[in-house]
Amino acid sequence: MNPLSTTGLKNVWAEYEPDLLAVEDCLLQFSESTTETIRDVTTHIIRSGGKRLRPLLMVISSRLSEYSGSNMVLLSAVVEFIHTATLLHDDVVDRAEMRRGRPAVNQLWGNQSAVLVGDYLYATALWMATGIHNHEINDVLTLACRKMSEGEVLELMLDNNLDATEEDYLKVVECKTAALTAGTCRMGAILGDLDTAGKKALEDFGYYIGMAFQVADDTLDYMAREDRLGKTLGKDLSEGKMTLPLLHCLAHSSASRREQLVRMMGQGEITALQLGDVLGLMKETGSLEFSLEKAMLFMRKAKQSLDPFPDSSHKQNLLALSDFIIERDL
Ligand code: IPE
Ligand code: IPE
Ligand code: MG
Ligand code: MG
Ligand code: MG
Repeated sequence: MNPLSTTGLKNVWAEYEPDLLAVEDCLLQFSESTTETIRDVTTHIIRSGGKRLRPLLMVISSRLSEYSGSNMVLLSAVVEFIHTATLLHDDVVDRAEMRRGRPAVNQLWGNQSAVLVGDYLYATALWMATGIHNHEINDVLTLACRKMSEGEVLELMLDNNLDATEEDYLKVVECKTAALTAGTCRMGAILGDLDTAGKKALEDFGYYIGMAFQVADDTLDYMAREDRLGKTLGKDLSEGKMTLPLLHCLAHSSASRREQLVRMMGQGEITALQLGDVLGLMKETGSLEFSLEKAMLFMRKAKQSLDPFPDSSHKQNLLALSDFIIERDL
Protein backbone atom coordinates (compact mmCIF):
# COMPACT_ATOMS: atom_id res chain seq x y z
CA MET A 1 0.00 0.00 0.00
CA ASN A 2 1.18 3.49 -0.73
CA PRO A 3 2.44 5.26 2.42
CA LEU A 4 0.37 8.32 1.52
CA SER A 5 -2.78 6.32 2.08
CA THR A 6 -1.92 6.11 5.79
CA THR A 7 -1.13 9.81 6.27
CA GLY A 8 -3.13 13.01 6.52
CA LEU A 9 -3.43 12.75 2.76
CA LYS A 10 -5.64 9.69 3.06
CA ASN A 11 -8.70 11.46 1.67
CA VAL A 12 -6.76 12.95 -1.22
CA TRP A 13 -5.30 9.55 -2.04
CA ALA A 14 -8.73 7.90 -1.86
CA GLU A 15 -10.25 10.43 -4.23
CA TYR A 16 -7.82 9.50 -6.98
CA GLU A 17 -7.44 5.82 -6.13
CA PRO A 18 -8.64 4.39 -9.48
CA ASP A 19 -6.24 6.68 -11.37
CA LEU A 20 -3.35 5.87 -9.05
CA LEU A 21 -3.99 2.13 -9.23
CA ALA A 22 -3.94 2.41 -13.03
CA VAL A 23 -0.56 4.16 -12.68
CA GLU A 24 0.69 1.22 -10.56
CA ASP A 25 -0.41 -1.23 -13.26
CA CYS A 26 1.35 0.84 -15.88
CA LEU A 27 4.56 0.95 -13.80
CA LEU A 28 4.56 -2.82 -13.31
CA GLN A 29 3.75 -3.42 -16.95
CA PHE A 30 6.74 -1.38 -18.11
CA SER A 31 8.96 -2.99 -15.44
CA GLU A 32 8.65 -6.27 -17.35
CA SER A 33 11.73 -7.08 -19.34
CA THR A 34 13.35 -10.18 -20.74
CA THR A 35 16.58 -8.96 -19.16
CA GLU A 36 16.53 -10.36 -15.65
CA THR A 37 18.53 -7.60 -13.94
CA ILE A 38 16.31 -4.88 -15.39
CA ARG A 39 13.18 -6.69 -14.27
CA ASP A 40 14.50 -7.53 -10.79
CA VAL A 41 15.92 -4.09 -10.03
CA THR A 42 12.92 -2.23 -11.37
CA THR A 43 10.34 -4.34 -9.59
CA HIS A 44 12.39 -4.16 -6.37
CA ILE A 45 12.35 -0.37 -6.29
CA ILE A 46 8.81 0.01 -7.59
CA ARG A 47 7.41 -2.55 -5.14
CA SER A 48 9.32 -0.96 -2.23
CA GLY A 49 6.63 1.71 -2.21
CA GLY A 50 7.36 5.40 -2.26
CA LYS A 51 4.90 8.20 -1.88
CA ARG A 52 4.06 8.47 -5.60
CA LEU A 53 3.95 12.21 -5.14
CA ARG A 54 4.76 12.99 -8.75
CA PRO A 55 1.98 10.75 -10.15
CA LEU A 56 -0.38 12.40 -7.68
CA LEU A 57 0.70 15.85 -8.89
CA MET A 58 0.22 14.72 -12.49
CA VAL A 59 -3.24 13.32 -11.87
CA ILE A 60 -4.56 16.27 -9.87
CA SER A 61 -3.07 18.85 -12.25
CA SER A 62 -4.65 17.07 -15.20
CA ARG A 63 -8.03 16.81 -13.53
CA LEU A 64 -7.90 20.44 -12.39
CA SER A 65 -7.29 21.23 -16.07
CA GLU A 66 -10.34 19.12 -16.93
CA TYR A 67 -8.38 16.36 -18.64
CA SER A 68 -8.93 12.72 -17.75
CA GLY A 69 -7.84 10.81 -20.87
CA SER A 70 -5.39 7.91 -20.89
CA ASN A 71 -2.29 10.09 -21.33
CA MET A 72 -2.72 11.25 -17.74
CA VAL A 73 -1.98 7.74 -16.40
CA LEU A 74 0.81 7.16 -18.91
CA LEU A 75 2.56 10.44 -18.03
CA SER A 76 2.14 9.73 -14.33
CA ALA A 77 4.08 6.50 -14.85
CA VAL A 78 6.61 8.44 -16.94
CA VAL A 79 7.37 10.97 -14.19
CA GLU A 80 7.57 8.21 -11.59
CA PHE A 81 10.06 6.30 -13.77
CA ILE A 82 12.15 9.43 -14.23
CA HIS A 83 12.08 9.95 -10.47
CA THR A 84 13.00 6.27 -9.95
CA ALA A 85 15.93 6.57 -12.35
CA THR A 86 17.26 9.58 -10.44
CA LEU A 87 16.90 7.68 -7.15
CA LEU A 88 18.97 4.78 -8.51
CA HIS A 89 21.67 7.19 -9.62
CA ASP A 90 21.40 9.37 -6.52
CA ASP A 91 21.87 6.37 -4.22
CA VAL A 92 25.10 5.49 -6.00
CA VAL A 93 26.36 9.07 -5.75
CA ASP A 94 25.31 9.35 -2.09
CA ARG A 95 26.49 5.84 -1.20
CA ALA A 96 23.07 5.19 0.27
CA GLU A 97 22.37 2.09 2.32
CA MET A 98 18.62 2.34 2.51
CA ARG A 99 15.83 3.43 0.21
CA ARG A 100 12.14 3.18 0.99
CA GLY A 101 12.91 1.20 4.12
CA ARG A 102 14.77 -1.53 2.22
CA PRO A 103 18.39 -2.02 1.18
CA ALA A 104 19.17 0.34 -1.71
CA VAL A 105 19.67 -1.16 -5.18
CA ASN A 106 23.38 -0.27 -5.14
CA GLN A 107 23.75 -2.41 -2.00
CA LEU A 108 21.94 -5.42 -3.44
CA TRP A 109 23.07 -5.37 -7.09
CA GLY A 110 26.08 -3.03 -6.95
CA ASN A 111 26.77 0.39 -8.45
CA GLN A 112 27.14 -0.81 -12.01
CA SER A 113 23.68 -2.35 -12.24
CA ALA A 114 22.13 0.62 -10.40
CA VAL A 115 23.59 3.10 -12.90
CA LEU A 116 22.71 1.06 -15.96
CA VAL A 117 19.17 0.23 -14.92
CA GLY A 118 18.77 3.92 -14.02
CA ASP A 119 19.76 4.78 -17.60
CA TYR A 120 17.31 2.19 -18.88
CA LEU A 121 14.49 3.71 -16.85
CA TYR A 122 15.30 7.24 -18.04
CA ALA A 123 15.23 6.02 -21.63
CA THR A 124 12.08 3.98 -21.10
CA ALA A 125 10.27 6.97 -19.60
CA LEU A 126 11.16 9.24 -22.51
CA TRP A 127 10.26 6.56 -25.03
CA MET A 128 6.86 6.11 -23.36
CA ALA A 129 6.24 9.86 -23.49
CA THR A 130 7.27 10.33 -27.11
CA GLY A 131 4.51 7.85 -28.05
CA ILE A 132 2.04 10.63 -27.25
CA HIS A 133 3.45 12.65 -30.18
CA ASN A 134 3.07 15.97 -28.41
CA HIS A 135 6.01 18.23 -28.98
CA GLU A 136 5.23 20.49 -26.03
CA ILE A 137 5.20 17.50 -23.66
CA ASN A 138 8.51 16.22 -25.05
CA ASP A 139 10.00 19.64 -24.60
CA VAL A 140 8.95 19.93 -20.94
CA LEU A 141 10.08 16.42 -20.05
CA THR A 142 13.46 16.45 -21.72
CA LEU A 143 14.26 19.86 -20.24
CA ALA A 144 13.33 18.57 -16.77
CA CYS A 145 15.65 15.57 -17.21
CA ARG A 146 18.45 17.82 -18.37
CA LYS A 147 18.03 20.08 -15.35
CA MET A 148 17.88 17.16 -12.93
CA SER A 149 21.19 15.81 -14.19
CA GLU A 150 22.67 19.29 -13.98
CA GLY A 151 21.42 19.64 -10.40
CA GLU A 152 23.04 16.42 -9.26
CA VAL A 153 26.35 17.44 -10.86
CA LEU A 154 26.17 20.93 -9.34
CA GLU A 155 25.54 19.38 -5.94
CA LEU A 156 28.48 17.02 -6.31
CA MET A 157 30.74 19.97 -7.09
CA LEU A 158 29.65 21.63 -3.87
CA ASP A 159 30.31 18.64 -1.59
CA ASN A 160 32.35 19.69 1.47
CA ASN A 161 32.77 23.14 -0.01
CA LEU A 162 32.79 25.65 2.85
CA ASP A 163 32.37 28.51 0.38
CA ALA A 164 28.97 27.20 -0.74
CA THR A 165 26.20 29.78 -0.36
CA GLU A 166 22.46 29.58 0.14
CA GLU A 167 22.11 30.74 -3.45
CA ASP A 168 24.21 27.78 -4.67
CA TYR A 169 22.08 25.48 -2.58
CA LEU A 170 18.80 26.85 -3.95
CA LYS A 171 20.04 26.46 -7.51
CA VAL A 172 20.76 22.77 -6.83
CA VAL A 173 17.29 22.27 -5.35
CA GLU A 174 15.66 24.06 -8.26
CA CYS A 175 17.40 21.78 -10.73
CA LYS A 176 17.43 18.41 -9.01
CA THR A 177 13.92 18.46 -7.55
CA ALA A 178 11.73 21.43 -8.56
CA ALA A 179 12.34 21.02 -12.30
CA LEU A 180 10.49 17.68 -12.37
CA THR A 181 7.60 18.72 -10.13
CA ALA A 182 7.19 21.95 -12.12
CA GLY A 183 7.27 20.04 -15.41
CA THR A 184 4.82 17.48 -14.06
CA CYS A 185 2.20 20.08 -13.15
CA ARG A 186 2.76 21.93 -16.42
CA MET A 187 2.13 18.72 -18.35
CA GLY A 188 -1.23 18.39 -16.61
CA ALA A 189 -2.09 21.87 -17.86
CA ILE A 190 -0.85 20.99 -21.36
CA LEU A 191 -3.05 17.88 -21.44
CA GLY A 192 -6.02 20.02 -20.41
CA ASP A 193 -5.12 22.60 -23.05
CA LEU A 194 -5.07 25.49 -20.56
CA ASP A 195 -4.04 28.93 -21.79
CA THR A 196 -0.55 30.36 -21.23
CA ALA A 197 -1.44 31.82 -17.83
CA GLY A 198 -3.02 28.56 -16.65
CA LYS A 199 0.04 26.55 -17.67
CA LYS A 200 2.32 29.04 -15.92
CA ALA A 201 0.22 28.95 -12.74
CA LEU A 202 0.34 25.16 -12.49
CA GLU A 203 4.02 25.10 -13.36
CA ASP A 204 4.70 27.64 -10.60
CA PHE A 205 2.72 25.53 -8.17
CA GLY A 206 4.85 22.48 -9.04
CA TYR A 207 8.03 24.50 -8.82
CA TYR A 208 7.34 25.81 -5.32
CA ILE A 209 6.11 22.41 -4.14
CA GLY A 210 9.40 20.93 -5.32
CA MET A 211 11.42 23.62 -3.56
CA ALA A 212 9.48 23.15 -0.30
CA PHE A 213 9.73 19.38 -0.61
CA GLN A 214 13.51 19.27 -1.00
CA VAL A 215 14.19 21.84 1.74
CA ALA A 216 11.95 19.75 4.03
CA ASP A 217 13.81 16.59 2.96
CA ASP A 218 17.13 18.20 3.79
CA THR A 219 15.80 19.12 7.24
CA LEU A 220 14.33 15.66 7.79
CA ASP A 221 17.74 14.17 7.01
CA TYR A 222 18.78 15.54 10.43
CA MET A 223 15.64 15.21 12.48
CA ALA A 224 13.27 12.55 11.16
CA ARG A 225 12.52 9.13 12.58
CA GLU A 226 14.59 6.74 10.52
CA ASP A 227 11.92 4.02 10.42
CA ARG A 228 9.37 6.49 9.04
CA LEU A 229 11.75 8.17 6.59
CA GLY A 230 13.05 4.85 5.24
CA LYS A 231 16.54 6.35 4.74
CA THR A 232 19.63 6.61 6.97
CA LEU A 233 19.62 9.74 9.13
CA GLY A 234 22.59 12.10 9.11
CA LYS A 235 23.55 10.91 5.65
CA ASP A 236 23.82 14.42 4.18
CA LEU A 237 26.33 15.51 6.82
CA SER A 238 28.39 12.35 6.51
CA GLU A 239 28.49 12.83 2.72
CA GLY A 240 29.42 16.52 3.03
CA LYS A 241 26.16 17.77 1.44
CA MET A 242 25.96 21.54 1.81
CA THR A 243 22.25 21.65 2.58
CA LEU A 244 20.39 24.53 4.18
CA PRO A 245 20.47 23.39 7.85
CA LEU A 246 24.22 22.82 7.64
CA LEU A 247 24.92 26.09 5.81
CA HIS A 248 22.93 28.00 8.42
CA CYS A 249 24.54 26.18 11.33
CA LEU A 250 28.07 26.74 9.99
CA ALA A 251 27.34 30.43 9.55
CA HIS A 252 25.95 30.85 13.06
CA SER A 253 28.28 28.71 15.19
CA SER A 254 31.32 29.72 17.19
CA ALA A 255 34.72 28.93 15.64
CA SER A 256 35.22 25.86 17.84
CA ARG A 257 31.75 24.45 17.19
CA ARG A 258 32.23 25.11 13.49
CA GLU A 259 35.45 23.13 13.57
CA GLN A 260 33.67 20.28 15.29
CA LEU A 261 31.05 20.25 12.52
CA VAL A 262 33.61 20.45 9.73
CA ARG A 263 35.39 17.41 11.19
CA MET A 264 32.22 15.35 10.84
CA MET A 265 31.52 16.49 7.28
CA GLY A 266 32.14 14.02 4.49
CA GLN A 267 33.42 11.28 6.81
CA GLY A 268 31.14 8.71 5.21
CA GLU A 269 29.60 7.74 8.53
CA ILE A 270 28.14 9.40 11.57
CA THR A 271 27.27 7.80 14.89
CA ALA A 272 23.97 8.34 16.72
CA LEU A 273 25.93 10.15 19.41
CA GLN A 274 27.50 12.54 16.88
CA LEU A 275 24.14 13.17 15.27
CA GLY A 276 22.76 13.98 18.71
CA ASP A 277 25.54 16.54 19.20
CA VAL A 278 24.82 18.10 15.83
CA LEU A 279 21.12 18.29 16.63
CA GLY A 280 21.96 20.02 19.91
CA LEU A 281 24.09 22.52 18.06
CA MET A 282 21.40 23.09 15.46
CA LYS A 283 18.96 23.72 18.26
CA GLU A 284 21.25 26.45 19.62
CA THR A 285 21.61 28.10 16.22
CA GLY A 286 17.94 27.58 15.27
CA SER A 287 19.05 26.04 11.96
CA LEU A 288 16.29 23.44 11.71
CA GLU A 289 13.61 26.05 12.43
CA PHE A 290 15.24 28.33 9.88
CA SER A 291 15.10 25.61 7.23
CA LEU A 292 11.54 24.62 8.03
CA GLU A 293 10.55 28.27 7.84
CA LYS A 294 12.11 28.44 4.38
CA ALA A 295 10.21 25.32 3.33
CA MET A 296 7.04 26.92 4.63
CA LEU A 297 7.71 30.06 2.64
CA PHE A 298 7.92 27.99 -0.55
CA MET A 299 4.80 26.11 0.46
CA ARG A 300 2.89 29.37 0.85
CA LYS A 301 4.09 30.51 -2.58
CA ALA A 302 2.90 27.20 -4.03
CA LYS A 303 -0.55 27.81 -2.59
CA GLN A 304 -0.63 31.39 -3.90
CA SER A 305 0.17 30.13 -7.40
CA LEU A 306 -3.25 28.49 -7.41
CA ASP A 307 -5.07 31.79 -6.82
CA PRO A 308 -6.11 32.15 -10.50
CA PHE A 309 -8.10 28.89 -10.32
CA PRO A 310 -11.71 28.93 -9.08
CA ASP A 311 -12.40 26.83 -6.02
CA SER A 312 -12.87 23.11 -6.70
CA SER A 313 -12.18 19.80 -4.98
CA HIS A 314 -9.03 19.39 -7.11
CA LYS A 315 -7.75 22.77 -6.02
CA GLN A 316 -8.50 21.90 -2.38
CA ASN A 317 -6.58 18.66 -2.82
CA LEU A 318 -3.53 20.49 -4.19
CA LEU A 319 -3.71 22.80 -1.18
CA ALA A 320 -3.92 19.80 1.17
CA LEU A 321 -0.92 18.28 -0.59
CA SER A 322 1.00 21.51 0.01
CA ASP A 323 0.41 21.21 3.75
CA PHE A 324 1.54 17.60 3.68
CA ILE A 325 4.89 18.62 2.16
CA ILE A 326 5.71 20.49 5.35
CA GLU A 327 4.09 18.15 7.84
CA ARG A 328 5.43 14.92 6.39
CA ASP A 329 7.90 12.75 8.26
CA LEU A 330 8.35 10.23 5.46
C1 IPE B 1 13.18 11.51 -2.68
O1 IPE B 1 11.91 11.72 -3.17
C2 IPE B 1 14.12 12.40 -3.39
C3 IPE B 1 13.87 13.83 -3.11
C4 IPE B 1 13.49 14.64 -4.05
C5 IPE B 1 14.06 14.32 -1.78
P1 IPE B 1 10.62 11.17 -2.47
O2 IPE B 1 10.65 11.49 -1.00
O3 IPE B 1 9.42 11.63 -3.22
O4 IPE B 1 10.80 9.60 -2.61
P2 IPE B 1 9.73 8.45 -2.63
O5 IPE B 1 9.35 8.27 -4.06
O6 IPE B 1 8.56 8.83 -1.78
O7 IPE B 1 10.46 7.25 -2.10
C1 IPE C 1 18.00 13.75 -4.39
O1 IPE C 1 18.17 14.44 -3.21
C2 IPE C 1 16.93 14.36 -5.16
C3 IPE C 1 16.81 13.87 -6.51
C4 IPE C 1 15.98 14.48 -7.30
C5 IPE C 1 17.55 12.73 -7.03
P1 IPE C 1 18.60 13.60 -1.95
O2 IPE C 1 19.88 12.94 -2.18
O3 IPE C 1 18.43 14.44 -0.75
O4 IPE C 1 17.44 12.50 -1.93
P2 IPE C 1 17.36 11.35 -0.86
O5 IPE C 1 17.39 11.99 0.49
O6 IPE C 1 18.52 10.46 -1.11
O7 IPE C 1 16.03 10.71 -1.14
MG1 MG D 1 20.37 10.88 -1.73
MG1 MG E 1 21.61 13.22 -3.33
MG1 MG F 1 17.73 13.76 1.16
